[in-house]
Amino acid sequence: MTHNIIQEQIAYYSARASEYDEWFYRIGRYDRGEEINQRWFNEVAVVKSALSQIGEVEHILELACGTGIWTQELLNIGQKITALDASQEVIEINRKKLDAAKVEYRQVDLFSWEPDAEYDLVFFSFWLSHVPPDLIDSFLTKVYQSVRTGGQVFIIDSRFDATSTAKNHILKHEDDIYIKRKLNDDQEFTIVKIFYQSEELCENLTKVGFLAEVNVTDNYFIYAKGIK
Ligand SMILES: C[S@@+](CC[C@H](N)C(=O)[O-])C[C@H]1O[C@@H](n2cnc3c(N)ncnc32)[C@H](O)[C@@H]1O
Repeated sequence: MTHNIIQEQIAYYSARASEYDEWFYRIGRYDRGEEINQRWFNEVAVVKSALSQIGEVEHILELACGTGIWTQELLNIGQKITALDASQEVIEINRKKLDAAKVEYRQVDLFSWEPDAEYDLVFFSFWLSHVPPDLIDSFLTKVYQSVRTGGQVFIIDSRFDATSTAKNHILKHEDDIYIKRKLNDDQEFTIVKIFYQSEELCENLTKVGFLAEVNVTDNYFIYAKGIK
């Protein structure tokens, strides 16, 4: 099951690549009207501000970089970024959008990835929620190994809120770990989506060795910082 879902997630994000940003910028099926959209953007600003407080660092590793929504924020604080994603389609969008010589891209499946360097900052957004529960400890252990002593991890993810997803996605129950996602053309995929509570995320990070702090915005986001 785990192997199939990992492949289905890669297929889903590859097929969704050209329409992915509609979610973040609240366009089309994700447009919830001015007031709710504004709430979303205000909370994005809170998370961006927390990220910028890290200050300047030398080398960042971004896992599951996607189409570059957060890679472009990392450009403000990092001298150099190594950005990994399993989907060549999203990497190409990210590369074209940012056109940044200081970002190096690698197509990598994070479940077979082996850390081979230590970074000042390891960052991933809206990725941890897609890691199947039986793989979370081994994944976070690899993240820990990728952070230099004194370096940091910064994680952003989703809180359970029906208006965060598309109008034709049904968020049934916070504890369901498998959800169905549709593309604009109605093609459907099943993926893992876990909505972490602060305590649980803090415990997971502490277990692998980080000194962790977890925060939430009012509705949409959970974000965590861990120091090695
Ligand atoms: C929800 S998106 C998040 C993208 C980006 N971090 C952001 O915040 O916009 C999840 C990303 O994980 C990537 N992905 C899915 N399965 C993966 C895997 N096994 N290894 C590496 N990346 C994967 C997808 O291609 C997609 O870009």
